[in-house]
Amino acid sequence: MTLLITGGTVIGPTGADPADVLVDGEKIVAVFAPGTGPSDTETIDATGKYVIPGGIDAHTHMELPFGGTFASDTFDTGTRAAAFGGTTTIIDFAVQRTGEVVHDGLAAWHAKAAGNCHVDYAFHMILGGVDDDSLKAMDQLVADEGITSFKLFMAYPGVFYSDDGQILRAMQKARDNGAMIMMHAENGIAIDVLVQQALARGETDPIYHGITRPEALEAEATHRAIMLAEVAQDCPLYIVHLSASRALAEVAAARDAGRNVFAETCPQYLYLTLEDQLGAPGFEGAKWVCSTPLRSKHEHHQRDLWQGLRSNDLAVVSTDHCPFCFKDQKELGVGDFSKIPNGIGGVEHRVDLLYQGVVDGKLSLQRWVETIATTPARMFGLYPRKGVVAPGSDADIVLYDPNGRTRISVETHHMNMDHSAYEGYEIAGKVDTVISRGEVIVSSGEYRGTKGRGQYLPRGLSSYLV
Ligand code: URP
Ligand code: ZN
Ligand code: ZN
Repeated sequence: MTLLITGGTVIGPTGADPADVLVDGEKIVAVFAPGTGPSDTETIDATGKYVIPGGIDAHTHMELPFGGTFASDTFDTGTRAAAFGGTTTIIDFAVQRTGEVVHDGLAAWHAKAAGNCHVDYAFHMILGGVDDDSLKAMDQLVADEGITSFKLFMAYPGVFYSDDGQILRAMQKARDNGAMIMMHAENGIAIDVLVQQALARGETDPIYHGITRPEALEAEATHRAIMLAEVAQDCPLYIVHLSASRALAEVAAARDAGRNVFAETCPQYLYLTLEDQLGAPGFEGAKWVCSTPLRSKHEHHQRDLWQGLRSNDLAVVSTDHCPFCFKDQKELGVGDFSKIPNGIGGVEHRVDLLYQGVVDGKLSLQRWVETIATTPARMFGLYPRKGVVAPGSDADIVLYDPNGRTRISVETHHMNMDHSAYEGYEIAGKVDTVISRGEVIVSSGEYRGTKGRGQYLPRGLSSYLV
């Protein structure tokens, strides 16, 4: 079946161009000058709308076991919510728990996702234990499973934590097989000392989660990760959920030196703050407990992060979607902030929240599309199948209405959460139509897709490596 999208403005790496897009089956087959496409096909009128590649959220945690509970979105609920928000691919983190065989962790993740996804999905692998077996498994996952990126943790001692020796060994392996090391860069050993000292002083409210994870310990860990990657002969390194100015400065310095160092930030760090959200009265701030934490509005983190997005020191915006309900989940930490499950849900809102950056004059249209779709595809080996509106690519297309409005609320969102981190936010733009591999799955706010239609995407190596 063919479909012609007419009258829109296609946003891509080379700019914004009025064009008509022809889809045949699951693929884009041609991009025409306006009005020059075939006339004997079904059409969608995109007049006044931006035609952009479907969003790629490169950092989600569906059903993650964490903090004594599980992230509250399943692959079913989470990918459906993603679709509503214009995201047509997620890259979720399969987990090898400490002591577990890597392939068993991966098999468990496939079992959770298979038959349940509404959009296409791929996996990174969290290594909860670096040893001879998991190092061997890294080679196998790259060669046979389409998993080409591995997340390590300098935080969470006793849970996912790796020491510097383990990190170095994994980086050396990645240097050999071309994989990307993704790093949760916070000094977890030092943080645990600060947490125990705060609790001993009776400082138990959610805001102390942020106060005990200071910027210096994100910057220090970021620096250390960059140095370890240098020792591993410039192993490709991607800093996840970067939140702080001084951590960004470490990434920028490495990039200025020509290193294979990349970073992402997340909408929560661009919009939310330690004081206004994490410091909300009583236990309310638990909704915004995540790691790295929200930063102080009295410093310049948000200004610097937007600048980093413009300069490409921050290449990608992902959500780190890791939702927990307030009731019974966040409430596990009443009286002890260290027991609040870490994570914020936002997979539905990333495309809109970043478009607000365009409206506010902080990002160009082209940079919006790069950071939410094209660069994640290139970074994680999905390009050109995903991330661009061009002949030969999958027909993952969003029609975005710059004259629409989106009001974010728990009353209207589709994520399985009993609150919204962005309650009441108004975005000057709206996802109008979402097409996934040629199928219209969202149209004017109505869901038309089906559970199980999403496919697993084996990935290649990053396009950015030298
Ligand atoms: O708070 C967060 N980020 N939760 C998810 C796990 C992680 O570290 O990414
Ligand atoms: Zn992390
Ligand atoms: Zn995460």
